[in-house]
Amino acid sequence: MLPDCKPAGPPTAEQGPADGRPTIAVVGGKPKITQKAHELGLSVVYIQNPDEYDRAHWPYVDQALLVDYADTERVLPMVRSLHQSFPFQAVISLWELGLLPAAKIDNELGLGGNSLETVEMLLDKSRMRRHLNARGVSPVAAEVGRTEEDLRAFVAANGLPVVVKPIDEAGSIGVFAVRDESDVAPVVERFHALGKQLDAKDLAGDLDRFLMEEYLEGPELSVETLSFEGRHVLVATTDKVSTEAGFIETGHSQPSRHPEPLLREVEELVVEFLDVVGLRHGPAHTEVKLTCRGPAIIESHNRVGGDRISDLTEIAYGIDMDRYALAAPFGLLEPLRRSPAPVAGSAIRFLTPPPGRVTEVTGVEEVADDPALYDLVVSVRPGDEIPPLSWSDSRAGHVIAKGGTAEEAIAHCERLLAAVRIHVEPVT
Ligand SMILES: Nc1ncnc2c1ncn2[C@@H]1O[C@H](COP(=O)(O)OP(=O)(O)O)[C@@H](O)[C@H]1O
Ligand SMILES: [Mg+2]
Repeated sequence: MLPDCKPAGPPTAEQGPADGRPTIAVVGGKPKITQKAHELGLSVVYIQNPDEYDRAHWPYVDQALLVDYADTERVLPMVRSLHQSFPFQAVISLWELGLLPAAKIDNELGLGGNSLETVEMLLDKSRMRRHLNARGVSPVAAEVGRTEEDLRAFVAANGLPVVVKPIDEAGSIGVFAVRDESDVAPVVERFHALGKQLDAKDLAGDLDRFLMEEYLEGPELSVETLSFEGRHVLVATTDKVSTEAGFIETGHSQPSRHPEPLLREVEELVVEFLDVVGLRHGPAHTEVKLTCRGPAIIESHNRVGGDRISDLTEIAYGIDMDRYALAAPFGLLEPLRRSPAPVAGSAIRFLTPPPGRVTEVTGVEEVADDPALYDLVVSVRPGDEIPPLSWSDSRAGHVIAKGGTAEEAIAHCERLLAAVRIHVEPVT
């Protein structure tokens, strides 16, 4: 009998480039993604914004299309003609703003990746909720609103607390808790003000409407999965810590420290969820709350987790999610048969100094040689202004540490984080 999962195999002469390498199109993302694709033996067609393409990409990119790829109406005809001269067999994005363009390109050229409908649903939190609620999977009261009256009506129908958030953004932009009746007006006002404060380039859509959801109380974790022709394999579980006020992630650690039976429940839910939304290929990053009613889905993306979660997964489970994502369409890596067992612990903690002007950064040399340190990034310099912590991009850097277990990694990470000091003075 023929196996039901057939790797794409080597390209035929008319499919591949002159040197016979199979070709992948990559939309957006960091240079390391093109590097990994190149190292897998793939020829790389890279679709990137002109201002995000530089020398770092050159050694790994065979053909670049530099264009504002979010403008898919313009991009699709260009990609169609690009595909005629540089045919590619798969298109992938591991970067939030590239997911929709990649899905549209895939759909247009019939490359056999995840359906456009699935990708659109994962990007639209309201559509995803309706889809799940209609099927009784992780039901959560949710509605779209525009005005204070809409929010009042939702609170009257569902009680307090509730969450107000954008329908299609990321990075915890504009996520607010309404805990009290008196929060209703200020939350709506602050939500609408955001659309004016932020650069449209950083936003996926307009901030004129918001999603209102019942507040899911409980600890939060996220789950990394890889799907192989509709078969989902849980790769990593990650405990998350966030600020209470703005839901901004301040840290992650792997493997999750929740008890095994609870993690099995989470796995069952996530697998059911991925089936219900129709995801069939590649990575997904799914966020889950452990409520007293059981695990509930917050949201999911068909990409690897942000916040360097992929690095945590590599340390804790020895799995490079990017490589699997890039290799899978070409059958270059054996599909995972089962979840990997953790081999270590990993943790990231973010630098969140108080608002002000940076006068000095100390402690960097002190931690540089620490054996537990995996990476330290300080993204501010003396003279920079630290804004109030309002979304992920207002964090000032991070420390990643490893240990024998998650507990050990967290302890190292917090020790190293405390040693790096960002000194600030008030801005006058
Ligand atoms: N219904 C909810 N109940 C409780 N917390 C929520 C809810 N929705 C979102 N959150 C919190 O806000 C964070 C950000 O929301 P999310 O939908 O994941 O937005 P983003 O796309 O910006 O990550 C979540 O990780 C979670 O901590
Ligand atoms: Mg999220």
